[in-house]
Amino acid sequence: MIMFNIIVLLFYHVIPSSCYSINPLAPPNNTNRLMTQHITLNCDFSPSQDGHICTARNLNITSRNITIIRVSGEYFNGVGNGNVMNLIVTQQNLRYIPEGISNFFKNLEILTISRSNLMALRFTDFLGLQKLRKIFIVGNHISSIDDQTFKSIPNLEVLDLSSNKIKSIPFEAFSLARHLKILTLSNNLIRIFDILPFPVSSELRELRLNGNQLVRINVASIQHTKMLEFMDLSENLCIDLRYPDDFGDIVGMYTHIVKYCNDDTGVDGSGG
Ligand SMILES: *[C@@H]1O[C@H](CO)[C@@H](O)[C@H](O)[C@H]1NC(C)=O
Ligand SMILES: *[C@@H]1O[C@H](CO)[C@@H](O)[C@H](O)[C@H]1NC(C)=O
Ligand SMILES: *[C@@H]1O[C@H](CO)[C@@H](O)[C@H](O)[C@H]1NC(C)=O
Repeated sequence: MIMFNIIVLLFYHVIPSSCYSINPLAPPNNTNRLMTQHITLNCDFSPSQDGHICTARNLNITSRNITIIRVSGEYFNGVGNGNVMNLIVTQQNLRYIPEGISNFFKNLEILTISRSNLMALRFTDFLGLQKLRKIFIVGNHISSIDDQTFKSIPNLEVLDLSSNKIKSIPFEAFSLARHLKILTLSNNLIRIFDILPFPVSSELRELRLNGNQLVRINVASIQHTKMLEFMDLSENLCIDLRYPDDFGDIVGMYTHIVKYCNDDTGVDGSGG
């Protein structure tokens, strides 16, 4: 009897304390927990020919460390998050794109974030969204873009970042954007367009740089864009072409160029 008691006591004292550190149900690391805020993305789902649409509502995201852990909303028959091809955020408060979108909308092809106070694009923003083809992030306050931001989405075809506060395009931003067909950077604060060239087999057709503060374009940036048909350079400062001769060669391939310069001595009009 005494012997039994001792054994029980041993169990009480030894087991709980020695097991504690390896208990799989131990509470999560509080430091991590404090750094991340988990939210539910509220969606109004609607069907469309281009695949189902989620229009986000009641978003108020003011810090960087926010992760979506749930999506709420009314689904249609047999349709779930995996069927959403189009995510629309408009007139919400969304300073940063939350993490976790790709965990829910694996088949997302179109992302729109308009007039929603977005301040930055980060290299993690589009990770995992392998099918993303069109991005419209218009009328926000974006001033910084990570260099690697668009490298994770090789299928990107249309990128519209107009009406933001972008001062410069990251040097490597489009060096892998082989399928990019329409790039719209209108109405920003870009002074110099000098980036690593679009890829050799670039499919770029339209490049809109109007409404910036351009003083210089390094033509080498677009030297491989053999399919370019339209380039809008209107409403800028006087543009100095770094390699005017090269630009002259390329001009012949454009069907239309809109160019404005106070001192309009450069290439103008249409070729091809
Ligand atoms: C919790 O996680 C943070 C960051 O990953 C780490 O620095 C910290 O040491 C961890 N704390 C504990 C008690 O494990
Ligand atoms: C998010 O990170 C910032 C620092 O970047 C911190 O001040 C803030 O408390 C964090 N938010 C939460 C909800 O943990
Ligand atoms: C949005 O979040 C911020 C910070 O958490 C808070 O101060 C503000 O009141 C919220 N706005 C709305 C409309 O809920």
